[in-house]
Amino acid sequence: MQIDILTLFPQMFQGPFSTGIFQRAIDREMVSVNIHNIRDYTYDKHHTVDDYAYGGGAGMVLKPEPIFEAVESVKSGVSLKKGGELPVILLTPQGRLFSQQIALELSRCSRLILICGRYEGVDERVREHLVTDEISIGDYVLSGGEIAAMVVVDAVVRLLPGVLGSEASPLDDSHSAGLLEYPQYTRPAVYRGWSVPDVLLSGNHAQIAKWRREQAIIRTLERRPELLGKANLNSEEKRLVNRLSTSP
Ligand code: ADE
Repeated sequence: MQIDILTLFPQMFQGPFSTGIFQRAIDREMVSVNIHNIRDYTYDKHHTVDDYAYGGGAGMVLKPEPIFEAVESVKSGVSLKKGGELPVILLTPQGRLFSQQIALELSRCSRLILICGRYEGVDERVREHLVTDEISIGDYVLSGGEIAAMVVVDAVVRLLPGVLGSEASPLDDSHSAGLLEYPQYTRPAVYRGWSVPDVLLSGNHAQIAKWRREQAIIRTLERRPELLGKANLNSEEKRLVNRLSTSP
């Protein structure tokens, strides 16, 4: 996967993409991330990227020209696989709310272009004529799209085949099956008198899988009950939810 990120603050991306699984994915050429400075696509003496809003009001608006030019330049670099689409995503609090489902959808693309918004906003023509998608990482306002872009890229890259050590592990993640993840334990079996549940030490894989599934359901019911509506529960599991929801 090739990811191109357009930003006014390239230095913000130095840390997150040079550690852990990310660095490994880059080293193994599973992903390449290119950071582009939007300011490099300005041609005036002062490298102007923003201007006052037509109609007045406080705050500056990002100009359309450098953003269009940056995206067009990045697009011209590499040819797409036949039939492949190239999402151009604006990070903005007005976008569709990011989720594990959207991460999975994006992980199937061979290329992504992410535009980090800044200041009071981006000229509307960028939205109308350049971007194909708008994503928000939550109902709060960050000072720019950079941290949101890092969140999106992290969630997507760890889903690429082979990036995590074990192929199976992203499927166990919270949210992957519409449920929060079950509790995890490691050694020691007893710590300060607190024991690991016996079933996990039993070696009985069927019992362990059953316990984990039940725990995931219980945890989801306690913390994020609204998720259960969309989770794929069998009739026995639905009875468990009913029993737990009605018990005092
Ligand atoms: N830019 C500012 N706030 C944002 C948010 N919540 N999500 C995505 N981009 C943003």
